[in-house]
Amino acid sequence: MEGLRNEIKLGDCIEVLSKIGEPFADLIFADPPFNIGYKYDKYHDKVDKKNFAAWTKDWMAACNLVLKPQGSFYIAIGDEHVADVKVAADELGLEMRNWIIWHYAFGQQMKNKFARSHTHILYFVKDKSDFIFNDDSVRVISDRQKKYQDKRANPEGKMPDDVWDEYPRVCGTFKERTGFPCQMPESILARIIRVSSNKENWVLDPFSGSGTTAVTAHKLNRVYTGIDISEEYVKEAERRIRECKGLPIEGESKQGWNEHLEAELKWLYHENKVPTEQLDADSFLLTLFSEKFNTRVRKTRNPFQPREIRDRLIQMRKSAKLGPLRGHSIPRKPRKSHTRRKPLENEVATK
Ligand SMILES: C[S@@+](CC[C@H](N)C(=O)[O-])C[C@H]1O[C@@H](n2cnc3c(N)ncnc32)[C@H](O)[C@@H]1O
Repeated sequence: MEGLRNEIKLGDCIEVLSKIGEPFADLIFADPPFNIGYKYDKYHDKVDKKNFAAWTKDWMAACNLVLKPQGSFYIAIGDEHVADVKVAADELGLEMRNWIIWHYAFGQQMKNKFARSHTHILYFVKDKSDFIFNDDSVRVISDRQKKYQDKRANPEGKMPDDVWDEYPRVCGTFKERTGFPCQMPESILARIIRVSSNKENWVLDPFSGSGTTAVTAHKLNRVYTGIDISEEYVKEAERRIRECKGLPIEGESKQGWNEHLEAELKWLYHENKVPTEQLDADSFLLTLFSEKFNTRVRKTRNPFQPREIRDRLIQMRKSAKLGPLRGHSIPRKPRKSHTRRKPLENEVATK
């Protein structure tokens, strides 16, 4: 077991964990392949449904063996197999505490059905009356506090809802993006690790991928173990861990703007197809755009001001972060037609 302490292990998680046979993990976060045909380095992500359900039960059982009695177990999964996870958890005697929906904007567009814009994160514990839950570490400001300045509001804030929509997917422009196909944002892992573990506790990720869980655990002073069957991904995760020393959690910023907000702004800009020049010139349009943006990023209590949003857009455009608007021509005011009067006889024509 000591060979796993602060390591990213190359191997099949069922084999690795079955050999351990004793509980060591305080928190497990698992983000397995979703069986939807993703292209991984060493895993074929499209198998028979029944086999996938049986495999789900096997790896969950292997994780359960190494989870401490007060441990917590989070599993991210798509629509296709979320039922398998719940059934397996029930059979293993795990206690479900929350069925979290991670909702993100700009889901995958499909012609013949609604765009998918969520992932399930199921949260279980082994013992329903003995587990770590550091509520103070994840509280958020409530409407009562900020909007209504209600003195009865808890000054520590409120617990976040079980629909998490403040975390965009890690997109190509993000600093934390590694090139891995389905990387989890560090900020989601930070919430889970803070609330369900203490410093020095041991965090395990049996499907480590690009190493997001290990990197975040390391930044938050937890012991980590990641397991992955791809040597390439193991190396990439090890590189991320080597280079993350002293860095803050990606996507969390105290300055108001961060790359997640910038990504949302960029998306909204392209969705609306109104050029920055026009937003700059038309205060009504800018106000509308700002309202949309603040609603989308849930900044309704302390919204970004329209001028702030305009300045950020212009800055992003100058630094080429915004990209050109496609399929749009700037609507112009119709010009008055200047039909020239026929010069009078003997009149000198002027321009
Ligand atoms: C959805 S990805 C994990 C992404 C990760 N959460 C991140 O943020 O980068 C699933 C990973 O599971 C790995 N994998 C698939 N089968 C495995 C197995 N039996 N044991 C260990 N890893 C496995 C794949 O190589 C892939 O990297």
